[in-house]
Amino acid sequence: MRTASRLEHIEPFYVMECAKAASELARSPACADKPMIFLNIGEPDFTAPPLVREAAERALRAGRTQYTHATGLEPLRERISGWYAQRFGLDIAPSRIVVTAGASAALQLACPALVERGDEVLMPDPSYPCNRHFVAAADGVPVLLPCGPEQRFQLDAAGVESAWGERTRGVLLASPSNPTGTSIDPAEMGRIVKAVRSRGGFTIVDEIYLGLSYDDRYGHSALAHGDDVVSINSFSKYFSMTGWRLGWMVLPESLVPAVDKLAQNLFICASTIAQQAALACFEPESIAEYERRRAEFKARRDFVVPALESLGLRVPVTPDGAFYAWADCSAHSGSSWDFAFELMRSAHVALTPGRDFGRHGSERWLRLSYASAMAQLEEAMARLHEVLVARA
Ligand SMILES: Cc1ncc(COP(=O)(O)O)c(C=O)c1O
Repeated sequence: MRTASRLEHIEPFYVMECAKAASELARSPACADKPMIFLNIGEPDFTAPPLVREAAERALRAGRTQYTHATGLEPLRERISGWYAQRFGLDIAPSRIVVTAGASAALQLACPALVERGDEVLMPDPSYPCNRHFVAAADGVPVLLPCGPEQRFQLDAAGVESAWGERTRGVLLASPSNPTGTSIDPAEMGRIVKAVRSRGGFTIVDEIYLGLSYDDRYGHSALAHGDDVVSINSFSKYFSMTGWRLGWMVLPESLVPAVDKLAQNLFICASTIAQQAALACFEPESIAEYERRRAEFKARRDFVVPALESLGLRVPVTPDGAFYAWADCSAHSGSSWDFAFELMRSAHVALTPGRDFGRHGSERWLRLSYASAMAQLEEAMARLHEVLVARA
């Protein structure tokens, strides 16, 4: 069957090949004595805490499973609004919040709402691959601008201004970023928003990892820079609910009817059970657990980054959020793709090569996810030491 031409602009996930090979090797006899350690996985090793699971069970038993409004359960929008007030000191009206089936659905709503066919959207290289594909699926053109360590792998206002062209409509940023775990400095974010605003464009900021921020300097929402910023968020990462498929977006009030209309048509609503469960995310007991987990992620980062450096895998910018370290493997190999396979086979440690995240110099970079228990991370680093240092 003939497929639509827009599919030509959507690339496959190359890392899935790598992940598949790691899973196959993990099941083979070669791994019997030394099980594979998966540091390629982009989701928390924690699951939803007890109150959240209990809330889901209660909703199921009570049959509270019918569709909700396309914009989400009212009490959930209110609790999310309360979270912005409590955590970020921001006054975000519940009416500006649309609950979605994960950040992915939020992006699938934001892009068709804002991007016309052929519109260019600026984003950093490296960045989360799906984000450019959401733009392509809306018939827009993602423009990847190379961003090195001196820019924290992020766009800055000067870069946005010089790259802005006739067809440019906006920027799509992620702070903290996947794959680098680095954020945009709040003052720089303010300058970007201003530069985009003055050109009549839109600023979409994917803040899915903002809850997992380890540095007060960076842990601020771009929503502080104006009501015209579109912020994408999720229950997947900080709230440890990846498979529940729940997220949200904060929109300028004027955009809500358009997104509501799209959401009604494309999704009807996000999972009702997941929404009922998520109400319990904001209970003090749950927040205390999430904060304990955040401290655990920070401790892992503080272990992993110096350990990688000591292996000749330089991490030029210390990640300030998420659970990723972006390491330069050029001292060991000219191809992070081949190197990842080599480490998978020799050390039984699975890492993600840079290929999917960008086109500029991606063969230099590897992403390590520290969403694994500390004991696993310690074992992984010991194995890498054995392969890269002791045997060298
Ligand atoms: C930067 C970024 N945005 C969006 C997503 C999608 O998340 P969700 O599970 O909320 O759809 C991910 C998932 O890894 C991500 O890393």
